[in-house]
Amino acid sequence: MADGIEIGFGPLEKSGQGPGGSGDLVVFVGDDLALGSSARDILGGSGADLVARAAASEKFKGRSLSALSLPAPAGVAADRLVVVGLGSDKDRAKIDWPALGGFTAGKVSGRTARVALDWPGAVVSAREAGDFALGARLRVYSFDRYKTKKKPDAEDKAGTSLTLLLTDHEAASREGEGARTLADSVILARNLVNEPPNVLFPEEFAKRASELGKLGVEIEVLEPARMREIGMGALLAVAQGSVREPRVVIMRWNGGPAGEAPVALIGKGVIFDSGGISIKPGGGMEDMKGDMGGAAAVVGALHALASRKARCNVVGAIGIVENMPDGGAYRPSDIVTSMSGQTIEVINTDAEGRLVLADVITHVVRSFKPKAMVDLATLTGAIIVALGQDIAGMFSNDDTLAGNIHAAGEATGEKVWRMPLIPAYDKAIDSKFADMKNTGGRHGGAATAASFIKRYVEEVPWAHLDIAGVAMSSNASEINRSWGAGWGVRLLDRLVRDHYEAK
Ligand code: BES
Ligand code: MN
Ligand code: ZN
Repeated sequence: MADGIEIGFGPLEKSGQGPGGSGDLVVFVGDDLALGSSARDILGGSGADLVARAAASEKFKGRSLSALSLPAPAGVAADRLVVVGLGSDKDRAKIDWPALGGFTAGKVSGRTARVALDWPGAVVSAREAGDFALGARLRVYSFDRYKTKKKPDAEDKAGTSLTLLLTDHEAASREGEGARTLADSVILARNLVNEPPNVLFPEEFAKRASELGKLGVEIEVLEPARMREIGMGALLAVAQGSVREPRVVIMRWNGGPAGEAPVALIGKGVIFDSGGISIKPGGGMEDMKGDMGGAAAVVGALHALASRKARCNVVGAIGIVENMPDGGAYRPSDIVTSMSGQTIEVINTDAEGRLVLADVITHVVRSFKPKAMVDLATLTGAIIVALGQDIAGMFSNDDTLAGNIHAAGEATGEKVWRMPLIPAYDKAIDSKFADMKNTGGRHGGAATAASFIKRYVEEVPWAHLDIAGVAMSSNASEINRSWGAGWGVRLLDRLVRDHYEAK
């Protein structure tokens, strides 16, 4: 299903007779079109002139993330020469390596290519080559499990094979292994988001999360009887309108010292959000299969951490429910008692995510006493209005944690923007009849939702990421062509790596 791409590493070649023989040869140039020494050696004396003439006729300027393809010159063991632009000196000083890898893979998808990571002045580190490989893997993914016929003109992405050529190829090969498992983790999350809810109902979602057991993750699945025992009245209220039983999955990766407080990752897993009795309009409702993007990110992150045997204790917890209207469904005006003991007046059954998170958070806070907690949720349309589809909203009660998440976002490109939590938002969810109500009116919808969650985190340093804009229906990028982006897996992996692991 995940498209086959093979990525190997090798030394820079000095002649055209390198391994691979036929296929594509990819070289890189800046906006001066100058070739690196390896490319000059491979292409011979007339190489620079050939590239210059082809560039002039095709108006190729060597701009960053542009490309020129031409038949390989005689004597070079390749069918096609692909010249990828890197832009100005300034561009070359701050290359986005996953994006470059993604762009390059897009140019040679379905083919075999040798990729010479070399240009004048280039010093490509193993880490950078690994990031290139990561981007390439993420780019060629597409979700076509349910396509029974291949379009004849569709890009054939299966069978892409890249050999990345660089000086430090042995270290790069080790980084490439890391890139592979991280890409697999993102792809796991993408698959979960892209799957339709008739296939991926809560029990099935729990089953897929449980497969992390193979990597040494400790799995506990809570069924409704247990949820009732421990008083998860808010989560159960959301679930009661669906014929599909809810599940809560607790995933523990114990890679750190025994007894050390874990980092907690919490995910909203609404496998389909119809809105319930406060039903959503029909147009676009199909997108609500992606309302489990937070849970998918948590499963993907645990996969990444366990795959690389991260030296830290992490607990992942996801609440998986379906929000449906039927005769048994919860309704506006219901008052439910959450696991924390706090009561909630239901104003709108479409504000269901916060009810699910409330109980999962209480359970995690009380059972595991985490030293930090991050929840990810496709929580509000309001965050999309505020920030659009390229950056997630972050709310936090802890400046250090918020700073660390921001930094991890900048490093991975999964960016977050911090939003305010002020007493006025908290006041907006006070209820006439219960401790709180589940909506705070039309204004500041993402912030009042965050304030609701804040009432459940007790004293734990916490950040809430509202990923409604970034988890699904994603804009195409160099490293993603999928509806479900798998957003958050790389961010969480990076956050743990940089701040919670023994070095
Ligand atoms: N799952 C939605 C939020 C959402 C909207 C995610 C669009 C992705 C794309 C959430 O459960 C929801 O319905 N939120 C309501 C809250 C409102 C009823 C207070 C919303 O945003 O309209
Ligand atoms: Mn909803
Ligand atoms: Zn929802």
